[in-house]
Amino acid sequence: MSEKILVAVAWPYANGSLHLGQIAGAYLPADIFARYHRLKGNKVLMVSGSDQHGTPITIKAEQEGKTPGEIADRYHREFLESWQKLGISFDLFTTTGTENHAEVTQDMFLALLKRGYIYKAKVSQPYCPQCRRFLPDRYIEGTCPFCGSPGARGDQCDDCGKPMNPAELLEPRCRLCAAAPVFEDSEHFFLKLSAFQKKLLEWVKPQSHWRKNVLNFTTRYLEDGLKDRAITRDIDWGVPVPLEGYENKRIYVWFEAVIGYLSASKEWAKLNGDGEGWRPFWQDKDSRSYYFIGKDNIPFHTIIWPAMLMGYGGLNLPYDVPSNEFLTIEGKKLSTSRNWAVWLPDYLSRYAPDPLRYLLSINMPENGDTDFSWREFFRRNNDELVATYGNLVHRVLTFTYRNFNGCVPEPGEMDGQSQKLMNKAEETLNTVGELISRCHFKQAIMAAMALAQEANRYLDDKSPWKMIKEDREAAATSLYVALGVISALKTALYPFLPFSSQKLHEYLGFEGRVQDYGWKPKPPAPGQKLLEPKPLFTKLDEKLVEEETARLGQV
Ligand code: MF3
Ligand code: ZN
Repeated sequence: MSEKILVAVAWPYANGSLHLGQIAGAYLPADIFARYHRLKGNKVLMVSGSDQHGTPITIKAEQEGKTPGEIADRYHREFLESWQKLGISFDLFTTTGTENHAEVTQDMFLALLKRGYIYKAKVSQPYCPQCRRFLPDRYIEGTCPFCGSPGARGDQCDDCGKPMNPAELLEPRCRLCAAAPVFEDSEHFFLKLSAFQKKLLEWVKPQSHWRKNVLNFTTRYLEDGLKDRAITRDIDWGVPVPLEGYENKRIYVWFEAVIGYLSASKEWAKLNGDGEGWRPFWQDKDSRSYYFIGKDNIPFHTIIWPAMLMGYGGLNLPYDVPSNEFLTIEGKKLSTSRNWAVWLPDYLSRYAPDPLRYLLSINMPENGDTDFSWREFFRRNNDELVATYGNLVHRVLTFTYRNFNGCVPEPGEMDGQSQKLMNKAEETLNTVGELISRCHFKQAIMAAMALAQEANRYLDDKSPWKMIKEDREAAATSLYVALGVISALKTALYPFLPFSSQKLHEYLGFEGRVQDYGWKPKPPAPGQKLLEPKPLFTKLDEKLVEEETARLGQV
């Protein structure tokens, strides 16, 4: 039976290029998951978009003397290009700047207001006397009241991950001029998070399939007690408040960005010619939603968004929030401002997508931070992709192509070893599928690579290149088995290495796209015409390690 799966992926701020931390944290795992489920025959809706609002965009616009809209458009276009090149297969990647998103946001705002989950109150807002303006959350910095970190921002502390109200910051200062802000009264709308504390705890506690860090962080956070949060700001860039008298305010970026999952689903449905097509994913009881995000976004997806959904009613709560930890770069914390980052467009201008997808999958920060280093990137490309998987595929394909007339040979009787390997291929597909569906991506790709190693050993044992002189049928049998195994590998590795799998699919003489063949072993039929094979991967010159590393940190 086909399942319905919503793959909801964090909305990147459209204020700069994407970097590998974001890819490892959210986009790659989401894509692996979506591709697997599609191949399995399930109904998948994978959505996200550019987060165009908020101070990250306005700060960047001010720095460059552009409008926020120009900045957001520029990076939105760049994101779309990056997804295409890296093979991140969104069903829709939209933006929070659409009319549709504003409507869906305002509808939710008004519904929560009507039910009393949003209320008005006066708050003192930080105002910079020197800059003469209200300071949005990220324009104010200070010491975190929870962990004492000195570099906390008005919206969140990056060190302990806790969101906060700007007034809670200790020793606050204006980020633009370093003056101490004064607090002035302003009327704002608040989301009554406190009303959901108990319901949220009851909902969170039994989520035993959540990752430990996600469950622990969320439970601790809830047990500390939820504070109501202001969800409007004195700014002019954002979704307007749909009420008279609030023309100078906008809805807070975090309140509307999470609504993007819903508005994007609705936009996708309309674009597909069935305006109601989003409903099964959001309303059917047996549909499941997975939110792929980095760990700094956990509370917004396990507390605030679920609270909003509970208040609104009639929509499914998240089924899982498989948040990843961070990727460090060459042993150091990634920093975009210090350019200690590997930028995706830069990577893609020099290398193929699959080697990166491979490294970030096998080294995914699933249960703790992991490190990206160029040395490891080159080593894994050369020793694992080229030498293990690529070499297996290449020797089987070229030898068969040359000696069997470019066709899949007719096998003779299979011995125990051959039978065992064929069974192992089928088992591997089951294992990999099972692991991916439980969001254990690292283990999943390792299981697939173990099959490639086993197939290499099998070929070394059988040595069809020697055997062919004595016993052509025995050689044909072992090549037939090996072709069956690499065909299974093409499927098992498709979620991780979609570009190489598609090539291999064609070399094996199959037509169309891998994703139309299903999640099952599909040995090519005897007699099937092969395509003249070329190597799947290219060996990289390890001398480039130095050159690549030297780019880091240069501003
Ligand atoms: N743009 C924000 C960030 O990059 C939020 C992303 S997730 C969202 O941290 F869905 F809530 F927008
Ligand atoms: Zn100032």
